[in-house]
Amino acid sequence: MLLQIVNTSRYFGSKAAVQSASFAIEKPAFVGIIGRSGAGKSTLLRMINRLTDASEGEILFEGRNVLSLTGADKRAWQGRCAMIFQQFNLVPRMDVASNVLHGILNRRSTVQTMFNIWPRTDILRALEILDRLGISEQAPKRAEALSGGQQQRVAIARALMQDPKIILADEPIASLDPMNAQIVMDTLRRINVEDGRMVIANLHTLDTARRYCDRVIGMRDGRIVFDGSPDQLSTGVARDIYGADASFNESATSTAMPTDRAADDVYAQTLLS
Ligand SMILES: Nc1ncnc2c1ncn2[C@@H]1O[C@H](COP(=O)(O)OP(=O)(O)OP(=O)(O)O)[C@@H](O)[C@H]1O
Ligand SMILES: [Mg+2]
Repeated sequence: MLLQIVNTSRYFGSKAAVQSASFAIEKPAFVGIIGRSGAGKSTLLRMINRLTDASEGEILFEGRNVLSLTGADKRAWQGRCAMIFQQFNLVPRMDVASNVLHGILNRRSTVQTMFNIWPRTDILRALEILDRLGISEQAPKRAEALSGGQQQRVAIARALMQDPKIILADEPIASLDPMNAQIVMDTLRRINVEDGRMVIANLHTLDTARRYCDRVIGMRDGRIVFDGSPDQLSTGVARDIYGADASFNESATSTAMPTDRAADDVYAQTLLS
């Protein structure tokens, strides 16, 4: 078993943001987490990465409880499960290549950091990753000069620099237009398939979850209320997860491209970029 979440909860005061969550992921799958705002999706991801402490339970990676790690071991774990955020979290005025290199900042000595010195092998690897994601030409530009979709790919490149086992993506496409959303999701999927890295992504739209995920976990009020394949995610199940009444309208949770033709254009652009 790769990753096991065992009866894990997080309380803020008396309120449970996540309550007794349990699931296991046996292979490097692409897992989507869906649910309405406040359902506990971010808290769950942040507990895996140890950005937020769990109140109770266990999170095991390859059999080891990552919740009990401290100091250097905890930081090493955080390097193994890289986070990607909705707002990219790049350093806006810094060039793209340096942003990517920041993925391994914690591995540098103080002197290297002071003088902004990077080993040549690291620089080459950063450029190689940018090239793989189709944005090598952006390397010398300031991060703030890039489009949202490009910035998110820089964030993915920064994550890859850590050579992570798991990529935790918290609403990675929520700030992007449909075309860039598709490019970013295709990129994550490629990394999942080609590198065998597990991806766990909080997604705010059903169609994205259906299209990209091997498995979907639905949360409602801190609890896991669905865990299954995209095929099992019927409109009725979705209505239950989102807690909507009979007027639930699936298009409200959609980022669909307006036409198939547009989707083809995006695909072509991905191949060309
Ligand atoms: N640091 C915190 N302090 C207090 N309450 C918190 C904190 N973080 C989260 N919560 C609460 O925990 C619950 C779950 O929040 P969380 O951010 O995990 O939800 P979410 O599913 O990611 O929502 P969204 O879709 O809006 O991002 C919410 O009720 C939220 O208000
Ligand atoms: Mg959230």
